[in-house]
This record gives sequence, structure tokens and C-alpha cells, in this order.
Amino acid sequence: MQPSSGSRPRDAWATNAGFLLAAVGSAVGLGNMWRFSYIATQGGGAAFVGIYLLLVAVIGVPVMTSEFIVGRMTQRSPIGALRSLGGPRWVPLGWLFVAGGFGIISYYSVIAGWTMRYAVTALGPGIPADTGVFFGEVATGADALLWHVLFMGITVFIVYGGIKKGIERASLILMPLLFLLLVGLAVWAFTLPESRAAYGAYLDPNLGQVFHRRILTDAAGQAFFSLSLGMGAMMTYASYIQTKHDLAREAVIVSACDFGVAFVAGLVVFPIVFTFGLRDLVGESSVGALFISLPTGFASMGAAGKLVGGGFFLMLFFAALTSSISLLEVVVAAFVDRGWARHRAALVFGLVAALTGVPSAFNTDFLGAVDAIVGNFLLIVGGLLICVFVGYRILPQADGELARGLDSPILRRLWAVLVRYVVPALLLALLFFMLEPTWEAVKTLFTAWM
Ligand code: PHE
Repeated sequence: MQPSSGSRPRDAWATNAGFLLAAVGSAVGLGNMWRFSYIATQGGGAAFVGIYLLLVAVIGVPVMTSEFIVGRMTQRSPIGALRSLGGPRWVPLGWLFVAGGFGIISYYSVIAGWTMRYAVTALGPGIPADTGVFFGEVATGADALLWHVLFMGITVFIVYGGIKKGIERASLILMPLLFLLLVGLAVWAFTLPESRAAYGAYLDPNLGQVFHRRILTDAAGQAFFSLSLGMGAMMTYASYIQTKHDLAREAVIVSACDFGVAFVAGLVVFPIVFTFGLRDLVGESSVGALFISLPTGFASMGAAGKLVGGGFFLMLFFAALTSSISLLEVVVAAFVDRGWARHRAALVFGLVAALTGVPSAFNTDFLGAVDAIVGNFLLIVGGLLICVFVGYRILPQADGELARGLDSPILRRLWAVLVRYVVPALLLALLFFMLEPTWEAVKTLFTAWM
């Protein structure tokens, strides 16, 4: 891959706040809004929250710092970055990221299409009382395909605009709106009659439940997906940074915001579930629960439900959009660095992404299987390889890049030890435990059509 053609200067963030908001936007997504609080209740409430935070600190922050370092140091998209630092042998990892970007966006955009459809319905005619039937109509088939394509169109529109004028501008508008909606909904949920009981159920610490293999692997997988790690998204965003800020500090900020949103989303979801007696409906962790049980609550609230439900799904839509632009940008950046015009790359790969989503729009089993394989397993593989690359192939250079913003040798040493030993060991163990569910998902992928 050739560096970008000299005639066209590479795009960059206008401000550091713009970069941070975009990175938080990538991290905060559909993963925050439901899965986190769901796993928390399964896994021991506050005890789970504690373990999750520990995983974010020990695994998430060092890996994100590493991605930031490689991106800023090379000012290239992951493929070019890996080639220039590691030689041709590392280029396949860059392609793995591109494949991962396609894989995730293919089904992510289908779910995001549902959120748009729900938002529009809630604010318009209102979501029908029988939300199960409604979800059945929305989730698969021509309707799902239509909204998926519409969502991809919006994603392409933003990425088409470039870093400053597209992604940064969109993040500066959408992220504050998202925070406002989230806080507004949390305050409203606080006023619901059953909110105290719900907080109790959400956060009741239960140490006995946390230390189960399933919960720990779920938590680590969730942390990786939620922080947008292991597929070059953070690396790509960091390649547009031109300041000397402390990258470890930025990783802490992004991770903390991501956790904060996930945590507060739980404070929204649980009071609704408790107040409207939906506990039985929340049987499974599938996204279906988000689209079936919660809207049942909104539907039973009459006129107020329109506003709250509309706000809720609008928030999900904003969260999904700022994540999907980072997914498409990984793919687009790879080709822009090769000399393609951004407009062409955005249109072509947006179209390809829309096509790869077709099977997920017609089959939710297929959608779930791709999520398990790409959204869980592949990200961990990517994260492990990033650690190996940074920790063993380019450590002195990476340390030098980190030192541009982080003076403390002790902290840099701590980061190096985590990236070289602790994180790879934990990720290897995780991959081992993920083998079986991933294999099941591979089989589902093939049987989904039978
Ligand atoms: N972090 C996003 C979420 O929580 C998903 C995502 C994963 C985005 C990987 C980019 C890269 O929904």
C-alpha cells in the first residue's frame, strides 16, 4: 500500500475535543445500551460492575493506548501503519481489521435500522401494544432491508464528508444530544414508582455470581466490543491526531465515558422493566428484548410513552450512527491512503457494506452468528495481535511515541508490562473459552438457511 498521494494533504481533526468526542462516539453504541446492564443483572450486580471496571482498566485502556500510539505515530490507516512499522508480514492484520469492519457493520446497521424505525414509529403513530408482533414485522424481510439501507446511506453521507467536515462535525452535534437524552431519560426513570427496587436489583452486589467463567468471558468480550477495540477503529481515528497529548490519558477518558454511558443506560432500563412488570419478558440477552419488552412499557404509557419511547430510540439511533461511521471509516481510510478519492471510497464501500448486510436483514439467527464470530471472537484475536505487534515488534518506538505526552517512566513501564504479558495472557485464556461458542456460531451461520 502506498502512502497517500502527495498532492492531497491528509485530513485531520480540527480540535482535540473533536477527536475525543468522535472516539467516545465510536465506543458508545448499541453495545452500551442493553448488553451491559443485562449481563450485570445476570452476573452479580455491583460486583459485576466492579469486575467490569477492572477489566476495562487492565485490558481495555492498555489496548486502546496501543491502538492510539500506532495510529498517531504513522498517520496512516492500519494497513499502511502496520506495513511501515512491521513490514509486509503484518499487512494481513490490517486486512483482518478491514474484514472486521465489514463484518460488524453488516449486522450493526440492520439493528440500527430497527432503532430508526422504532423512533419514527414511536414519535409518529405510536408503537403498537403488541410489540412482539411489531418486532417480527420490523426485524426481518423487506422492511428491515429498507431501513438498513437507509441507515447505511446516512453513515456514508457522514463519512463522505471527511474527518473534519463529516465525522468530527457529526460527533460534535450527535454526542451532546445523546448525553442530553440519556440524562433526561435517567431523571425520568428515577421518578418511576419502582425505581428504587430496580436500582437494587441492578446493583445488588453478589460476589458469588461474578466468578463464573461465562460471566467473566462475557464481561471481557463486552468490554472489547464496547470500547471498539481489536479492529483498528481507534487506530484509524488516532491517525488523524496532530497534537502531542497524553494518549494513555485520552484512552482513560474514552473508556470512562463509555463505561459511564453503559452504567447510566442501566439506570434507565431497569426502572422501566420493573415499573411496567416486564421482568418475565426479559428472558434472553438477545437484542430482541430491547425491542420487545421496553416498548411494551412505552406503549402502556399512552401519550407520554410516545415522547419517552421516541427519545429512547432516537438515543439508540445516535449511538449507533456515531459507531457505524467509525466502522466504515476503517475501510474507507484504507483505500483513501491508497490514493482513492474519499467520495468514491465512501460510496463504493458503503454499497458493499449494505450488500453484506442483506443476509442479516433476512435472518436474525444469521445476524446473531455473525455477531458472535466477528463482534466477539475476531475482535479478541485482533486485540491479541495488536498487543504482540506493539509489545514485541515495535516496543521502543511505541514507548517513544507515548512519551511525547506521558512523562512518567513508571506509567509507561506499567503500560508495557500490561501489553507484553498481562493482556496477551488474559486474551489467550479468553479465546480458549470462546472456541466452543464461536464454533457453534459458525455452524449456525451455515444452518441458518436450511
Ligand atoms: N463500540 C460499539 C458499540 O458499543 C461497536 C463497535 C465495535 C464500533 C467495534 C466500532 C468498532 O456498540
